[in-house]
Amino acid sequence: MHHFSYKGGVLHAEDVSLAQLADEVGTPFYCYSTATLERHYRVLAEAFEGQSALICYAMKANSNQAVIKTLARLGAGMDVVSEGEMRRALAAGVPPDKIIFAGAGKTRAEVAFALETGILGFNVESEPELRMLSEEAVRSGKTARIALRVNPDVDARTHAKISTGKAENKFGIPYAQAPRLYAEARALPGIQATGIHMHIGSQITDLEPFRNAFKLMHALAEALIRDGHKLEHLDIGGGLGVPYRSEGEVAPPPTAYAAVVKETLGDLGLKLIMEPGRMIVGNAGVLVSRVVYAKEGVDKTFTVVDAAMNDLIRPTLYEAHHEIWPVAEDKLSMPPVVQDIVGPVCETGDYMALERSLPPFEAGDLLAVMTAGAYGAVMASTYNTRLLVPEVLVRGQDACVIRPRPTYADLIGLDRLPDWLAS
Ligand code: LLP
Repeated sequence: MHHFSYKGGVLHAEDVSLAQLADEVGTPFYCYSTATLERHYRVLAEAFEGQSALICYAMKANSNQAVIKTLARLGAGMDVVSEGEMRRALAAGVPPDKIIFAGAGKTRAEVAFALETGILGFNVESEPELRMLSEEAVRSGKTARIALRVNPDVDARTHAKISTGKAENKFGIPYAQAPRLYAEARALPGIQATGIHMHIGSQITDLEPFRNAFKLMHALAEALIRDGHKLEHLDIGGGLGVPYRSEGEVAPPPTAYAAVVKETLGDLGLKLIMEPGRMIVGNAGVLVSRVVYAKEGVDKTFTVVDAAMNDLIRPTLYEAHHEIWPVAEDKLSMPPVVQDIVGPVCETGDYMALERSLPPFEAGDLLAVMTAGAYGAVMASTYNTRLLVPEVLVRGQDACVIRPRPTYADLIGLDRLPDWLAS
């Protein structure tokens, strides 16, 4: 469910015309819908009503301060994976005691900053990290509340590049080693092990992998409690997928997911933390682009648009499917043409869609790449010296540019010439 729809023949974000925004902001740009963001957060929170749960939005999916503040106002905490994300969360007014810090390679400086900030907790991914965290906690006179991220070795049945819970993935502590590491954590100064963390992957559209992982989490929690560990919470990760295709793809509703959590973990009476990203922002955003050329190849039609792989890398990096909607609704009544929607970047992998049956496009037409709110703008780069794509947030009839397009002077001015090239 999202709030992008045709009104008066033009695709709108809530009550704002994307055609009008394109004229005002220029293309390409990302556009997010507040109503969609808020709805997704609320539906998830309601699914967990009656269970003690904190939703820590995984801001890696979309970390614009306006987006995270929208969610924080509804009560969301944040799951951060770097000092940069932590600083953004703080800048957006997220209380430190609602921030959890995850990530496989936290540096000493990042850990020191997090301790000084007084965050809710750390999800620890390795034995050396645990020891380093203990040293830093002692040095700063603080206690670090931790969960060990345990790798359950379950197959999330998702794309290989976004599967994280198999033994061969770099993430977490092997399941069999967890009891030994919890014992070590108990003995270490400055460490208080209060939880267990698992995250098995992203864009998971099947509840079975979650069920399997949560059953293992339950068994581990019971064993740890039996050993005298004072567990307070279970961090069940993120990863619930969203439908990217308008037909033939179903993602389980949050209520079904919450039911699995309750069934597998509910009897432990522990507080839940979850870290959803994509299911909150995925279909709350679109990438709007203008057609530059309609080009006939030998036996292919190419629609060359002004958005490229540097703006949205998901199609080429994960073979991801994003629906393409024309901004002008009347295009939908024209006989479709099989075509590739490609960008201007000098790579064959620069495309938004391949061999797609879509309306015939002409230069100047606008189109929207749907479900681009998660892992879109945050993964954008300036490859080919293209300007970082701007972001717009809509609420009802209002729209605000929440990240402006930089200027060429901003971008090129970041370079520095060494003395020997100065003249
Ligand atoms: N927690 C941890 C520890 C994670 O590694 C991730 C995502 C999440 C939570 C949030 O997962 P979500 O609810 O969004 O599925 N760039 C890829 C996705 C990478 C996901 C990385 N980790 C994509 O565009 O599909």
